[in-house]
Amino acid sequence: MSLKAENLFDISGRVALVTGGSSGIGKMIASAFVANGARTYIVGRDAGRLEAAVAELRGLGDCVALQADISDVAGIEGLAAALGGREDRLDILINNAGASWVAPFERFPEAGWDKLFNVNVKSPFFLVQKLLPLLRAAAAKECWARVINISSTSARSGAASTLVYGASKAALEQLTQAMAKTLGADRITVNAIAPGWFPSRINDRNPKEVGERWKAEAPLQRFGTAEDIGGLAIFLSSRAGAFVDGQVIDINGGRTGS
Ligand SMILES: NC(=O)c1ccc[n+]([C@@H]2O[C@H](COP(=O)([O-])OP(=O)(O)OC[C@H]3O[C@@H](n4cnc5c(N)ncnc54)[C@H](OP(=O)(O)O)[C@@H]3O)[C@@H](O)[C@H]2O)c1
Repeated sequence: MSLKAENLFDISGRVALVTGGSSGIGKMIASAFVANGARTYIVGRDAGRLEAAVAELRGLGDCVALQADISDVAGIEGLAAALGGREDRLDILINNAGASWVAPFERFPEAGWDKLFNVNVKSPFFLVQKLLPLLRAAAAKECWARVINISSTSARSGAASTLVYGASKAALEQLTQAMAKTLGADRITVNAIAPGWFPSRINDRNPKEVGERWKAEAPLQRFGTAEDIGGLAIFLSSRAGAFVDGQVIDINGGRTGS
């Protein structure tokens, strides 16, 4: 087996699905996958945003849009059926689509709780469940398949500002460890990436000074980029990351806490 980087980090010919691949971190990861030869499916609700992203990413390689709302099991089953109609295996699943909801403790609504736990926790769990036959088919053919859940530094910060969001991401990290133990025998690794601040639509909703404060407090004094998150996702998705399982990897420019 060659120890050359082009072999260790090769993801060409792999089939990848990135939820929320039409925007922000998901689009950054999808761009890195497409640029490196993976056939990459991107998922989102908004058709216009999906079309714009696919038009851009097709300039780099093979990219397909699948429109779906994955906040409930019906939407997840529809997505699994759509992918199953096009592919006989799934090598890499990136559970990236996420939601945020900021409100003071006394006024935090049930609708906000349900949205955060549906998109951030329920959706990754049932996506893996419904896509398991395709992931197993990849593992049988290629000797491995990968699931990567996108968490957040908020999972472990205990910050009041990200009250329920942080709890949903903590649940996702727990799920990551337990799913790794559940699926290891199938040669499917399950890991999580916990990003710090990356430019995105979710973050655009924050006042500019909040981002500037985050950046000023980060040892590396900058936000994350597509190179940063794309490189880590490729590492975990390739042979190079084969022995990493059940882990949460922080990528935050050295800034811990939210
Ligand atoms: N950006 C950061 O600094 C940061 C830091 C830590 C963690 N994260 C995590 O990174 C992930 C991506 O967030 P982002 O910041 O890149 O946000 P973003 O730019 O708002 O992207 C979110 C993506 O998810 C899709 N999405 C949301 N709800 C969906 C649903 N129900 N069904 C299908 N697709 C859905 C959105 O498309 P549609 O709206 O068209 O459906 C969009 O493509 C999230 O899990 C977030 O919690 C982000």
